[in-house]
Amino acid sequence: MASFHLSLVFGLVLCSILLLSPPVKCDHDEEDDLYQGINKYRESLNLTSLTKNENANCFADKIADQFKKQPCTNTTGANTVPGTEPQFDNYPKLLTKCKLNISNTRDGSVMPACVPGLVSTVVLTNFTQSLYSQNLNDSKYAGIGIGSEDNWIVVVLTTDTSGGSFVPEAGSGSSDDTANLLSKIGLVYCSMLLLVGSVFLF
Ligand SMILES: *[C@@H]1O[C@H](CO)[C@@H](O)[C@H](O)[C@H]1NC(C)=O
Ligand SMILES: *[C@@H]1O[C@H](CO)[C@@H](O)[C@H](O)[C@H]1NC(C)=O
Ligand SMILES: *[C@@H]1O[C@H](CO)[C@@H](O)[C@H](O)[C@H]1NC(C)=O
Ligand SMILES: *[C@@H]1O[C@H](CO)[C@@H](O)[C@H](O)[C@H]1NC(C)=O
Ligand SMILES: *[C@@H]1O[C@H](CO)[C@@H](O)[C@H](O)[C@H]1NC(C)=O
Repeated sequence: MASFHLSLVFGLVLCSILLLSPPVKCDHDEEDDLYQGINKYRESLNLTSLTKNENANCFADKIADQFKKQPCTNTTGANTVPGTEPQFDNYPKLLTKCKLNISNTRDGSVMPACVPGLVSTVVLTNFTQSLYSQNLNDSKYAGIGIGSEDNWIVVVLTTDTSGGSFVPEAGSGSSDDTANLLSKIGLVYCSMLLLVGSVFLF
C-alpha cells in the first residue's frame, strides 16, 4: 500500500510539472519582429498580410538548421546571386520531416539570410532591400513561416494554391496533431490520477 501511495504521489508531482510547464513552442523574438516587419512592408505596398503557416515554419527551421554552421559572407543569404544558393541533398528528407513534399511546396519560396546576431532592423532590410523584396512584393504569396538558428534566419513563403500551400493532404497528419493528442492524453491521465489520488490520499 505504501508503494502504491508513493507512486501516486510521484504521478501527481509529475502531472503538476507537466500541466504547469509552459508550452514548448515559442517563437524567437527576432522571428516575430521579422514577421511584423514583413507585414508592415506588405501593407505599405497595399498587399494582404501573410498569415503564419505551421508547416512552413517547421521547414524554415529545418533549413536554418542546415545553414547554421556556415559563416556569413557576401555570397551567402540575401547577398547571394539567385540560383547559386546551395541545394541540400537532403531537401526532400527535410520536407518529409515537416510532412511536406515537393508537390505542395514547389510554388513556395525559401529565402535564407545571414545576419550576425540577428539584429532585427538589419534582418528586415536583408529581406526588403535585396532581391527577396520581389517575392515579398508578390500578391501570389499568402502565408509565411520563419525559422532561425545562430546567425541564420529563413523565411518561407507559401501560396494559397495547392502547389504552394505547404499543407499536407487531409489524413496524412502532422507532427503538431501528434503533439496535441499526446498533451490531451496527458491531461486526461492527470485528471484521473488527481481524482484517484484525492480519494486515496485524503
Ligand atoms: C495603396 O492604396 C491607397 C488607397 O487605395 C492609395 O492611395 C495608395 O497610393 C496605394 N499605395 C500603393 C503603394 O500602391
Ligand atoms: C566578397 O568579398 C570578397 C572579399 O572581401 C571580395 O573579394 C569579393 O569581390 C566580394 N564578392 C562580391 C560578390 O561582392
Ligand atoms: C544583409 O546583412 C548582412 C549582415 O549584416 C550585410 O552585410 C548585408 O549587406 C545585408 N544584405 C542586404 C541585401 O541587405
Ligand atoms: C511592387 O510590385 C509592383 C507591381 O509589380 C511594382 O509596380 C512596384 O514598383 C513594386 N514595388 C517595390 C517596392 O518593389
Ligand atoms: C505528396 O503528398 C501527396 C499527399 O500528401 C501525395 O498524393 C503525392 O503523391 C506526394 N507527392 C510526392 C512527389 O511524393
